[in-house]
Amino acid sequence: MSQLEIRPLHKLQAEFSVPGDKSISHRGVMFGGIAHGTTRIRGFLPGEDCLSTLHAFQALGARIDRLAPDEVVIEGRNGQLLAPSEAIDCGNSGTTMRLLAGILSAQPFTTRLFGDASLSRRPMARITEPLRLFGAEILCEGKDDRPPLNIRGSSLKATTFRSHVASAQVKSCVLLAALFARGKTDFSEPSLSRDHTERLLPAFGATFRREKNHLIMHGPQRLEGTDLEVPGDFSSGAFWIVLAAGLPGARLTLRRLGLNPTRTALLSALLRMGAGIVEKVEEPLPEPMGTVYVEGGQKLRATSVGGKEIPALIDEIPILAAAAALAQGITEIRDAAELRHKESDRLAVMAKNLRLFGVPVEERPDGLAIEGGRSLVGAEVESHGDHRIAMSCAILGLLAKGRTVVKDTDCIETSYPGFAKQIALLQELGR
Ligand code: S3P
Repeated sequence: MSQLEIRPLHKLQAEFSVPGDKSISHRGVMFGGIAHGTTRIRGFLPGEDCLSTLHAFQALGARIDRLAPDEVVIEGRNGQLLAPSEAIDCGNSGTTMRLLAGILSAQPFTTRLFGDASLSRRPMARITEPLRLFGAEILCEGKDDRPPLNIRGSSLKATTFRSHVASAQVKSCVLLAALFARGKTDFSEPSLSRDHTERLLPAFGATFRREKNHLIMHGPQRLEGTDLEVPGDFSSGAFWIVLAAGLPGARLTLRRLGLNPTRTALLSALLRMGAGIVEKVEEPLPEPMGTVYVEGGQKLRATSVGGKEIPALIDEIPILAAAAALAQGITEIRDAAELRHKESDRLAVMAKNLRLFGVPVEERPDGLAIEGGRSLVGAEVESHGDHRIAMSCAILGLLAKGRTVVKDTDCIETSYPGFAKQIALLQELGR
């Protein structure tokens, strides 16, 4: 099991870009895999999660050529996948399992989907419920509809489903099933979750309409292969943005970063905290992409986040908690109970780790209250196998006094290959 040893960073002047967006890379492979014709993806994230999706589609009969680590060409199967010869391993990836389940529900064979220990603990009832309404037969081997899943696909009938969680994975699972289902599917969610599926499906020729918070799709529909350029993952950029915002004298430019507004609420929160950040969208379609400039050293002050803002920074709460540790006053994170169902219980784990860095934290059922503004002390912390916890704690280590060790960091490979190298490079430049 690997670990990261971190020393404080004193200087940061850098310009770079981060690897491709994880959510968009997954969708590119999945939509390309079921489309008619060829899909070429540039900027594909070669992280373990997206490779789980890629291997799943190879097992389901799609021909996928990797021209480079971040460039893939997919020959789609025009809606008809092949029965895999064995169960499909989704690794650590909830997106792979939940979205793939929508597609497999419409295939005329049975597939078993399984994952690692963390994925086996994650709730799947949120997708099995709508998929059963579509007519799929799903048998879950875990308690309360937890994985592994055995999906017996059939010809689906469109349905109406009102999701209780604002989850892009649930929404995407339903829309993928709706592509195959006969009739009108009507999906709604309590507030807007990331909208990559809605932005990308039309690029593959799909049609549907939005009426307030409802998405209405008539099926069945066929997707057409397309060319896709994946922007840098905002969730990966977020670590460097917070690092630069918290480091006096820092200057950071992140290029070709995904700036989809359903993902970037962290920037609004940091601006409220007084951070020096400028965001510039340079290419708006199908996914906004541009540059983020950060000037460090502004005095940060506490803020609060909650309600509709949460889905747009759902993956950034661990790094927002790190930013809160630097801000004068008590930052409150509310309405974020969903964090307890991620790769780890991110509220419990972040509370525990922040305390080890010397930060007073109150853990609440749906969030955290973090008292910031004291100087951080280096710590030995556990990632609990959660990539975003590992990276958030590495950033805290760069901003703390003394030595930090983050244990169990192999998980970083799921979303950010090259993260440790980037730290080493910044430390080299910062000497
Ligand atoms: C994702 C949606 C989010 C997010 C995850 C990726 C996606 O999950 O946390 O990292 O690509 O659709 P939920 O839909 O469970 O909120």
